[in-house]
Amino acid sequence: MSDRLLVEARGLTKTYPARNGTPPFHAVKGIDFELARGEAFGFLGPNGAGKSSTMRMLAAISPVSSGSLSVLGLDPAGDGPEIRARIGVVPQDDCLDRELTVRENLYVYGRYFGLKKQMINERIVGLLAFAQLEEKADAQVEMLSGGMRRRLTIARSLINEPEILLLDEPTTGLDPQARHVLWERLYRLKHDGVTLIITTHYMDEAEQLCDRLVVMDGGKIVAVGSPRELIETNITREVLELRFPVNAHAQIGERIRDAALGERTEVLPDRVAVYADDGEEALAQVHAMSLEPITALVRRATLEDVFLKLTGRSLID
Ligand SMILES: Nc1ncnc2c1ncn2[C@@H]1O[C@H](COP(=O)(O)OP(=O)(O)O)[C@@H](O)[C@H]1O
Ligand SMILES: [Mg+2]
Repeated sequence: MSDRLLVEARGLTKTYPARNGTPPFHAVKGIDFELARGEAFGFLGPNGAGKSSTMRMLAAISPVSSGSLSVLGLDPAGDGPEIRARIGVVPQDDCLDRELTVRENLYVYGRYFGLKKQMINERIVGLLAFAQLEEKADAQVEMLSGGMRRRLTIARSLINEPEILLLDEPTTGLDPQARHVLWERLYRLKHDGVTLIITTHYMDEAEQLCDRLVVMDGGKIVAVGSPRELIETNITREVLELRFPVNAHAQIGERIRDAALGERTEVLPDRVAVYADDGEEALAQVHAMSLEPITALVRRATLEDVFLKLTGRSLID
C-alpha cells in the first residue's frame, strides 16, 4: 500500500455474524476509498448505509470481515493500540461520564491514553478554550446543552493530539445554531492540519465540511468526488420545484415529464422537480404549457438531488 495515503481501503467488508436465528448481515459490502493527509473526507448516506460500521473499522474497534484496510500505514488487525493512540474518535453517541465535570471527563480520558498528569492539565487549558467551555469547566456534564456536550466530546477526542479525527454524525440532534458553532470549530481543526473523517446524513453538512466524500447506500459506495464534482457530474446546475394541487399532482407531473423540459423530471409526493441548467427558462416553458403551479422555486442543485438521482430515494425519509 502507498505511503502517501493516510487511509486506504480495498474491498472493505463488514459482516455481522448470525445471531438468534437471524442470518449474517452484510453492513459494508466491499468498499474502496483512500484519503490523503489534511483532507476532510466524508461518508454521506441515510441511516443504515453502513457509515458507523465503516468508522468503527477505521478506529480499530471493530474487526474487518474481509478486504484490506490500512490506517496511518498500519493494519487495524495487528496494530490496533498504535492506531488508537494516533487517532481521535467522536462516536455517534457521546458516552461522556455525566456525573463527572467537564474537566474531569477530559482528565480521565487523558489518563486512559497514559498521558502524564501535568501534560493532561496543560492540554485541558487549550481544549477548554477550543471547545468554548472554559466557564463550564467545573460543571457536571449532566448540566450541559447538547451542543456543549458535542464540543466536549470533540475536545476529549483531541487530548492525544490525533493525526486523524473520526467524527460519526457530529451534529445529529443539534439545533441550527449549535451546528454552526460546531462546524466553525471543525474548520479550525482542519486549518490546523488535522485530517477529518466525517459521517453524516445531512447533505448541507457534507457540502460545508468535506473536501471529498463518498455517497453510501445499503453498504455500498454509489458515488465519490468533491461536493461540486458530484453535483456537476450527476445533475444539472439548477432545479425548478413546482407545487400543484395535491390531487392534480401525478397527472401534471406526467405532462411535464412528457414535455421533456430540462434534463430530467422527478415526480415526488409533494412536488415536481425539473432538473435544468436554466431553471427560469424551464419555468417559462411550464407557463407556456398553460400550467399554473401554486408555487415555483428555482434553486441550485445540491447533494440531496444527487442522492435522489443515484438511489431513487430521499436522504432523510
Ligand atoms: N453490531 C451489529 N450487529 C448486527 N447488525 C448491525 C450491528 N451494527 C449495525 N448493524 C446493522 O448494519 C447496518 C448498518 O449500520 P450502521 O453502520 O450503523 O449504519 P449507519 O451508521 O450508516 O446508520 C444497519 O442495518 C444496522 O442495523
Ligand atoms: Mg451511524
